[in-house]
Amino acid sequence: MLLRFTLSAALHFNKELPPEAAEAVQATVEKANATLFRRGVPAEADAAEIGRITGWQVEGSSLTLTLESGTYTRAHDALFRIRKPLAAALGRHRLGLRGIEVRDYRIDIAGEIPEKAVPNLPMIRRTTRDEAGVSLELAVDATDLENKIPDRLVRLIEEKIEGLKYGGKAEHWELIFESEKRSGGFVENPTEEMLARGWIKHAPARGQWIFAPPAVQLFRAFERIVVEEIIGPLGFAEMIFPKFVPWEVWKRSGHAKGVYPEIYYVSAPKTRDPAYWEDVGDYFKVTGEVPVEMIRDRLEGPIGGMCYAQCPPFWPFVQGETLATGSLPIRIFDRSGTSHRYESGGIHGIERVDEFHRIEILWLGTAEQAVGTAQELNQAYKRVFEEILELEWRSARVTPWFMAQEGLAGVAETENVGTTDYEAFLPYNETWLEFQNVSVAGNKYPKGFNVKVQSGEECWSGCSGIGLERWTAAFLAQKGFEVDAWPKRVRDLFGEPREIFHFL
Ligand code: SER
Ligand code: ZN
Repeated sequence: MLLRFTLSAALHFNKELPPEAAEAVQATVEKANATLFRRGVPAEADAAEIGRITGWQVEGSSLTLTLESGTYTRAHDALFRIRKPLAAALGRHRLGLRGIEVRDYRIDIAGEIPEKAVPNLPMIRRTTRDEAGVSLELAVDATDLENKIPDRLVRLIEEKIEGLKYGGKAEHWELIFESEKRSGGFVENPTEEMLARGWIKHAPARGQWIFAPPAVQLFRAFERIVVEEIIGPLGFAEMIFPKFVPWEVWKRSGHAKGVYPEIYYVSAPKTRDPAYWEDVGDYFKVTGEVPVEMIRDRLEGPIGGMCYAQCPPFWPFVQGETLATGSLPIRIFDRSGTSHRYESGGIHGIERVDEFHRIEILWLGTAEQAVGTAQELNQAYKRVFEEILELEWRSARVTPWFMAQEGLAGVAETENVGTTDYEAFLPYNETWLEFQNVSVAGNKYPKGFNVKVQSGEECWSGCSGIGLERWTAAFLAQKGFEVDAWPKRVRDLFGEPREIFHFL
């Protein structure tokens, strides 16, 4: 992208600039254009690309600078670079810099920039287009410029252009392994069968179920298999991760970039003073309705959302730390609560829900350890699906979950970083259901949460989510409800279905 940055800023001083000060300004500007702004710029860079001050003007106690640049020492960087030498030069004339006012900031991007690639944000005052490209007039102040808002805007536009290119492409999917066909003859929808047997009932909320004892017996049977065959032998230790996730975490995990359409948002009361809330309760008492609008006015936030990906809220535990070599790889897991996603509309079976139960496995170490752990897990899973659950399943390399959740679907993984999905065949609708995944996320999370390893190598991490509803859906869809015909280990752990409810 060919870029031009044009900035006009007024530097306000404590008193009028005397004529001698103008000479000092001229000298400082010349020197900056000749040397200061060239610092750190590659020698071969085109001079027109490098930031320079193209004009200045004194009006009373203000000095207005016009700065222009291409991609090197961008106009705003040039402004902050010259601030100190200028303040020093004028300080000799007893002038003190009081503040910087941004008069105009324009970014010109040459070329064909799709309309959809230009964001709609409060810091963009106006967008104009012509055959040369697009111009953005920004509504920014000096703090915004110091926070590099123009650079981030440009990067965002680049990302959007990339995204639009990928947009048409299907998500990445590449088969790794496919088991033999193992259809047991059962072809019903397991959710309907579970409903008919009273193993589950719809809960009042969207995509939410209440699981009766037999369903939970199956969940727990799977959990035991996971603990005994995978988590235990590979030495993962149990932790409890928070299930409310504040923005703080999602800012670092990358979810803040794009997870908004799927979050269940969480708000807190502005105060817990009962008097503040009394009329809300009174309204309900009189009408039998909960006054949602009245409540909305009295909330702080949303301050974050409900657990979505399960592993991100772990990371503050190691944030800013350096992990001792002897403790690596760190292998942990969490099964302490639900995950919540606002799924696409309609009622689905237990395989697609807004509230679900998952065992989340997580590991950290060097790159080699992170990749090695994923390999060990993949082998263990294969054994469980082949020899214990006897499933018809396959695995595939897919768009990494941590990219997809940032809205970057279609971006392929690199050799060692990426996600493997496990899918099971559902005979009743002849589709494949993703029932768990294993990922190596590279240094993304350690970088986001500033975690290092003692050796000075890059710290890497990986995670694997085991969805209990999905295991159940896959297993029952293939094996049906004749418990005696189930694979032995599951049958033994499951026992007799405790169908304790009998409704009249
Ligand atoms: N955190 C991963 C995901 O959300 C694995 O559970 O897919
Ligand atoms: Zn995870």
